[in-house]
Amino acid sequence: MFNILPQPVSILLNKDKKGFTLHAGTTISPFSFTDDFISFVRKKFNKKVRVHEDTGEERSIILKLDDSVEQEEGYTLKCENRRVFITAKTESGLFYGLQTLKQLLLQTDGKIPYTEIVDYPRFSYRGYMLDCGRYFYTVDEIKRIVDLMALHKLNVLHWHLTEDQGWRVEIKKYPLLTEKGSMRSHTNFNHKPHGGYYTQDDVKEIVAYCHERKIKVIPEYDIPGHSVSAISCYPYLSCLDRDLEVATHWGVKHDILCAGKESTYQFVFDVLDELMELFPDKIIHIGGDEAVKMRWKHCPHCQKAIKDNGLKNEDDLQMFFMGKVNEYLKSKGFSSVMWSYDRIENSENLSPDIAWTVCGMGDDKALVENEIKRGRKLINTHCYPYYFDFPYGWNTLKMVCEDDGALTENDEETLGIEAQMWTEYVPNMKRLEFLTFPRLGAMAENAWAEKGYGSFATFLHKSSDYFKLLDVYKVGYAPIKKACPSFVYKHASSIWFKRRVFHWEGLHNLIDDKKAIKEAEKIKKGLNK
Ligand code: ACM
Ligand code: ZN
Repeated sequence: MFNILPQPVSILLNKDKKGFTLHAGTTISPFSFTDDFISFVRKKFNKKVRVHEDTGEERSIILKLDDSVEQEEGYTLKCENRRVFITAKTESGLFYGLQTLKQLLLQTDGKIPYTEIVDYPRFSYRGYMLDCGRYFYTVDEIKRIVDLMALHKLNVLHWHLTEDQGWRVEIKKYPLLTEKGSMRSHTNFNHKPHGGYYTQDDVKEIVAYCHERKIKVIPEYDIPGHSVSAISCYPYLSCLDRDLEVATHWGVKHDILCAGKESTYQFVFDVLDELMELFPDKIIHIGGDEAVKMRWKHCPHCQKAIKDNGLKNEDDLQMFFMGKVNEYLKSKGFSSVMWSYDRIENSENLSPDIAWTVCGMGDDKALVENEIKRGRKLINTHCYPYYFDFPYGWNTLKMVCEDDGALTENDEETLGIEAQMWTEYVPNMKRLEFLTFPRLGAMAENAWAEKGYGSFATFLHKSSDYFKLLDVYKVGYAPIKKACPSFVYKHASSIWFKRRVFHWEGLHNLIDDKKAIKEAEKIKKGLNK
């Protein structure tokens, strides 16, 4: 039997009937997305599959769109009588059929017996979040990640583009964002500057690359927190017009966008205008996480906004801010997503048409149920086990395998799953691949295979075929032993990772908060004169 990952809905084999053999003359029907498959065959089998209209000939791979296939992203694959037939309702389905065909070829050395596969995904949203804010990843590196996502039948790249430590996307109206905001003077780990950004042409290139692989791109513009890089360029965006540098270290920053000044909203809308031009999938993630309200409490503009709009407190002001941004996006035909990182107590004041990436409240069943009742769409990004930047000691491969994937009993109440790659500790592709794989394989099983399918045992059973597939792409995955570490390593890695709790910025923040309160007093006096 084959070890296809993620597991198809059904596989039927018949050794007595004729199957398909890869051949020097193999052809494939012409579709724009077949390059990825052709290059796989060239790499692994040193054979060139030619693109050719279907003439019913032997040795051809025949791709066919068929409206009668029920599932949007589903496909059927048949290896029969020296031909492969892949049929699907959409091009996405055909593309996924080719991903499965890669694995069939690999496991049979190109001689596939008669096989019938019926397949479709469990969840419609299967994502990977890449934080390019802490560390910059080049266009070619992102393309490699996208290739590997496609191999796992994922369909959303959530691209985290703005951070305290770096602004990564060219915005023509505000050139300083990339001239200054894309560079930090040094990193946590060395005294060297680090930076980089994507030109608007780079962004278009990546979006096109993703679309060819049936992957949507959701950019994240993280507001009102995580905005130090923008504030360092345009101090008026902060409550107290503070003069800051692009952040060098990780940690939650206390200077965030001011939610009381009209000039902040103007800036945010201008940035969104350019992002909307660049991201045709019409969804933007607007962050909302880790927005501490220290400055807002003392800011005359924010306090005035609370009073003028009849809001209860600073938390309410954040809901007001997110709501205003959401309304702006909606008016342009876009929809928005935000983090539910902190417990959102007053979400009744937040429009339910903002979807949530749920990372910190998975265990709070009442809150989840309540939001579902209000019609909010929820994506499972729970930090246990889907934060793949966490060391294997925290999120073991076994934990990913054993997670159900859904946030509730009923699959229809979860849009899907998204793996998270925050990069505070991930400075390069080597580290990224080690942390991502094989956990992404287990995540893909949860997101695609039927509910209840996966277990640690099934994953282990498939792992040698899965690793052979990753080997074709020269992926630097963690071996099983490292992905499920021993007791000692587990605790050692935990201590190593928790350094971030004890770093110097805790003290720095305390001192800086005192300074900021004094600055706020001065501004208030000035306004009252
Ligand atoms: C998050 O972990 N900052 C969403
Ligand atoms: Zn303010």
